[in-house]
Order: sequence, then structure tokens, then C-alpha cells
Amino acid sequence: MHSPEKHRGWKSVTALMALSLTMTLGAGTALAQKHPDLSAMPWMNEALSPDQRADMVVQQMTLDEKIQMVHGDGWGVLRPGAPVDPRSNFGAGFVHGIDRLGIPDINLTDSAVGIRMAAYAGRYATLLPSTLGAASSWDTDAAYLYGSVIGRELWDEGYNMTIGGGVDLMREPRNGRNFEYAGEDPVLAGTMDGYVEKGVIAQHVMSDIKHYALNDQETVRNEVNVEIDKKAMRESDLLAFEVAIGIAKPSAVMCSYNLVNGDYACENDYLLNQVLKQDFGFKGFVLSDWGGTHTTVKAALNGLDQEMPGDDGFFAAPLKQAVQDGKVPMPRLNDMVHRILRSMFAAGVVDHPPIHTVVDPFQGRDDARHIEEESIVLLKNEDGILPLKAAPSESIALIGGHADLAVLSGGGSAQVDAPNGDAVHPHPGGSRWGVPVYFPSSPLKYIREKSPAATVSYNDGSNPAAAAAFAKKANVAVVFVTQWMSEGHDAHTLSLPDNQDALVDAVVAANPNTIVVLETGGPVSMPWAGKVKGIVEAWYPGIGGAQALANVLFGDVNPSGKLPATFPKDIAQLPHPEIVGMDRSKDKGAVYVDGKGRKIQTWNLSYTEGAKVGYKWFEATHQQPLFPFGFGLSYTTYAYSGLSVDDAARTVHFTVKNTGTRKGTEIAEVYTKLPASAHENYKRLVAWQRVTLAPGESKDVTLTLNPLYLSVFDTAKDGWQLLSGDYTVMAGESSASTPLTATLHVAE
Ligand code: BGC
Repeated sequence: MHSPEKHRGWKSVTALMALSLTMTLGAGTALAQKHPDLSAMPWMNEALSPDQRADMVVQQMTLDEKIQMVHGDGWGVLRPGAPVDPRSNFGAGFVHGIDRLGIPDINLTDSAVGIRMAAYAGRYATLLPSTLGAASSWDTDAAYLYGSVIGRELWDEGYNMTIGGGVDLMREPRNGRNFEYAGEDPVLAGTMDGYVEKGVIAQHVMSDIKHYALNDQETVRNEVNVEIDKKAMRESDLLAFEVAIGIAKPSAVMCSYNLVNGDYACENDYLLNQVLKQDFGFKGFVLSDWGGTHTTVKAALNGLDQEMPGDDGFFAAPLKQAVQDGKVPMPRLNDMVHRILRSMFAAGVVDHPPIHTVVDPFQGRDDARHIEEESIVLLKNEDGILPLKAAPSESIALIGGHADLAVLSGGGSAQVDAPNGDAVHPHPGGSRWGVPVYFPSSPLKYIREKSPAATVSYNDGSNPAAAAAFAKKANVAVVFVTQWMSEGHDAHTLSLPDNQDALVDAVVAANPNTIVVLETGGPVSMPWAGKVKGIVEAWYPGIGGAQALANVLFGDVNPSGKLPATFPKDIAQLPHPEIVGMDRSKDKGAVYVDGKGRKIQTWNLSYTEGAKVGYKWFEATHQQPLFPFGFGLSYTTYAYSGLSVDDAARTVHFTVKNTGTRKGTEIAEVYTKLPASAHENYKRLVAWQRVTLAPGESKDVTLTLNPLYLSVFDTAKDGWQLLSGDYTVMAGESSASTPLTATLHVAE
């Protein structure tokens, strides 16, 4: 599954290339008629390193060819009416290859949770659970599988690059794109995203990590100037990128729309040159978010390597002129091109180009289902209301959320096309921007399959009183609530939209045996949490979502997911109860003038909470959330014992026991509090392990602590520092429950 048969020798590749050139350029071109002279292309030798191969190509390239590689070909299919390059694969971006040198086009597309806009070209793509959901599995194998599905289908559909890999931290639980990211903790988010991208690149598709950096809200995303000190950003948002880049060695990093400390992220010397390329040792290329390039010389000198989608033309003729004028030195342009080429060689897109075929939808669905089974988080299970019983005497009332037909997906550039456009309101063509899209995966159908003898009925929940009367007649009521989120806007509150809190209130008043299933983009408030007996967070469940849910609700799968983000009680608990930019009369910043003389009003967002994101903020401010980071229940119970620490090896050792009657998988979490000299009044997640246990079984867990995760960023020394002193090491089931503690001594 991870490494399909895609290996062909470079000779057959070049033969194929000659054929495709004949087809694309037409028989009349001299180029197409000429068989490529392989001896003249020594960079096609796979035995050479990607850097050597890239250098050889750069040496052959003309100035125009170099310029051609550092910008895209325009908005294309993303903007109705915009020209679409005849060689484009109909993705979000297209970069012309250099035919005479055997360098293929770059066909890239959004694929955060599956391939976007497949229907545009008459194709199908698997909708995976949201990445936030997948992060709830804390399972690097699931993350790798996630990336493999994306890479596999991209390759099958003729793409050689993804633009997914969102790893922006959840500083703002109302952020419209949280479902595309991996939660609030830099180590968990970076690790999960790193494995996703590792899975992509293993399929010979270039990988990408985005949006670099601090693009943590959608409101005024193109104009918000994030203010944060270096120590805080290195220990929070940038650490997530550092971890992911270390694991995945991605082909590309997409710089974000916002400004950071006064400079746009795509022309930010500190972010791009000093941190990303120098400190992280990132060897790939930086491409701008779509329309995120604002200048030519400043952006090129400060680390941007490729302008996307290219219409603004900063990296077209103006860059050529700047190179000719010596304002951008030729070695810098060569570096930009080298980075793109070395990523192409390293991922194998030159040696193993995609061959169009159809994707396997059933394999995709089964993989999506498996990931969702590990992603679902059981938040409450009073009186053992779950798992559901399938006896003939049972009657189960399903209510709301279009659970008769479908599951919800997230919007924006992460939107995957649903078959028929939408399961609830079918329409031809692909999905529509700005409109919720439901996928045909019916919880009602699979719940009925699990309990053929029981009575399972459905009410759409549009009328709370009618839903309550309906629920009253059943043994159990399962209310599906949804929160649609999308790129381009944030939620104003944490409340469920469309009066769904009132629906739950009405149902639970009529039937105390009420379970709520949430399909949300991120955390929501739950004023009814104390009243209902069961709460299940299913996130955006993906195309295998209904089967996964049915398996969990009936206990065929024992839930194991844990929250990758804190669920606050309400917005008053957040560091920024008001989202900057929602009220445009406040927080105005400087006016920025771009390379074309256009004026842009900015807004200042000061991240005064620093690195205290999520659970760190809650602990430091002594607040109790609704559900803490790392929390999730199981149908069995676990006990922790015997924590010991090896100072020299920096390992942590403890035992986890299944004390219940069902087999289950526990995510054992390890946190650390740094020595007093760090002045940190919160704990950090530093390690975890999924442990699968039969009833009564115990397993020893040994985890090695990564010194980076224990370190502080020393701004004066401009580097990480592992402080000497006593570290409190804690192990347990969530950030709020760490029954075991021990001390790790770090010597001078
Ligand atoms: C988004 C990116 C996306 C790009 C291309 C932008 O609006 O912020 O995440 O990759 O569009 O679709």
C-alpha cells in the first residue's frame, strides 16, 4: 500500500517523455521528432544525488528558462474565465517544465483532506477525515496512511505535487481552517503532519507544508500583522514546522498570507532565510500562497523561491529585469531554481512520473474509515450508554445532521468534491465554494445494518419540539449536530449554529438517554454537556465516516482518539475573546505599499499569550476547560503505574494496564514541566505512545525524550538551550490527568 509499483528506469521515462512531447507539441515540432539524447542528459542518472542533478540542470538553463520555473502559470481553473494552460492537469497550480532538458511540468493541487476539484476533470477522489480528526489518533501510522492515500490518488490522477500539509497551530478555536490543521500542540501537530507528508512523498509526489507562518485565523488573513516575540514563536508555531520538516523533509513550504512582525510572510527574511532555510536546514523551495507575493526584489532576496499562482507577475519579467540589473544576484536565482529541481529529483517526479489511471475508491474508503475509527473521540459515556445495544427490543431515534444520508465536509480549498456534488442537495459538477457539502455516507444505513432487529428511525431535527416528541418514543436518542467551517472566514462564537443547542436541549428533556454525535471543524461549546449521557466527537468523518461511526457506536471498534485541542467552555476563556479584524474600526496597523504601489491597510494582532497556546494557556491562567487537551474515553479503563526516569538516557518508563473487560488502545501521554529557571508555568507534551491491551493485560512503555521538546529558545544566543536542573516528568491519560510523576535531572 505504501510503495506501489511505480518504478521505471530513466530510459523508459525519457522514451515516454518523447512520446508525450510528440503528443503535446504536435508532430511538426523539430523537438518532438528528435529522440532525446540521453547522453546529453547526465542529470537523468538516478545514482547521483538530487543536489548534483539539480546543479547540472541549472548549469544548462537560460535566464528565461530559470524565470519560467519560479512562477506559476496563473489562476487557471480556480478562477472562472481565467486561461487554463493546455498542458495543465486542472489543479490549483501549474509550472511549465523545461522540455529540452527533460524537466517535467509541475502539476500541483490542493489536497489537504483529499484531492480538490477532481470532478472538474471528471475524476473521483477520496474524502479523508479532517486532518484535525486524524491528529486525534496520535497515530503516526495512520498519518502516514493518510498521506499515502493522498499521494497515491494524486499520482493516479496525473499530479506530481500536493499543496496540503497544514500545520498552523490552533491558537484560535474559531479559525475556519482548524479542520485542515493538526491541533494546538506543536509537537503533536508537527509529528502528525510530518508523517502525512512522508506518506505523500513516498508515492513520488512532491510534498508541501503550509501556511508558514502564524496564519492562525482567517479574518483579515491577507492584512493581519501578527506580533510575537522570537522566543514565543520558536517554541510554538514555528516549532510545529520544525518538527514536521525534520520528519518529512518536504519538497516545499508554502508561505502564508499574513504579515509577521511587520513583514509579509512571503518576504520575511527572519522566517524564510534565517529560520526555515538556515536553522531548520530546509532544502526544498518556498512557494507563496495564492496571491501572497507582494514584491519582486524584497521577496526574492528574503527567501521566496516561487510565486504562485503567478498572475501578479512579480517573479516574471520584473524578476528577469532585477537579475539583469544585479538587484537580485544570479546566484540567488540559481538557488531558487536549484531548490525546485532538487525537490523534483528527490521526490522522484522526474524518474517516476505519474501515469494516469483511475483511483480505487473502495481502497480509499476503507483507508478513510480506518483512520476515522482511530480519530473519533468519546467525550462522555455516563451509565455505559455506549456501546449501543442491537437487541430487537431496542429502539434508536436518530435526529438531525442529515444523518439519514450523509456526513459533513469542510469547505474552501480543502473541499473535496462529493459524488453528485452533494448528497443532500445533489447537483451536477463539482462542489461549490461557500456552501456546505455533504458526502454520501449514511449513518442511518450503517446503524440499521448493525442492529437489524431493532427499530431505527430518523427525524431531521429541524423542529426541536417535533424531534423531542420523536425521541420520547425511543429507548435511545442520537442527535447529530454539525458545524460547517471553511477557509475564508472564522466562526463568531464557539456555539453550534442553527439553533442546534436548543435541539439537543429539547431532545434530552424528552429522553434522558441522549447521545450527541458532533461533526465539527474544531471545538464547540456544549451547554447541554451535563445533561446528555453520551458525547462523541466525529470531526468531519470522511467518506468512510458512517461505517466508522457505526462501528464505534456499537462497540465493534473501541474508541481510542484523544483531543488534539482544548475544548473551552466559552470564548471568555480564550486569550483573545474578540477576533482581531472582525471589527475593522479597531486594531488598525500600518499601511503597506506593495511592489506595484498598491496600498494595503493592515491590522495588528498581538499574540501576548506567547507560546502558551491551548492547554498551556488554560493551565497558566488556572482555568478549567470543557474538555482538556489529550482527553478521550474508551469502553474499557486503564491504570498507570511505576514511572521511572533514566537521567543519562533521558528515557521514561512506566506501565499501562487494561483494567476493564474489553480490548482497547490507550494513548499514554507524557508531559514535562521545565526547571524553575525556565519560568514556565505550564506543562508541555513531550512524548506519547498508543498501547493496545487485552482485558487485564499490562504493557511496559519506554519513551525517549527528544531534547528539542525539553528546550527553551534563547533569543540572545539565537538557539535552543537545554537548561540544567530538575524536570518534572508526568505520565497519564490526558493533560489534565497525569497520576504519575518523577524527576529527570539534566546536568550542566
Ligand atoms: C489557500 C491555500 C491554497 C491556495 C490554492 C489559498 O487560498 O490559502 O491553502 O493552497 O489557495 O488553492
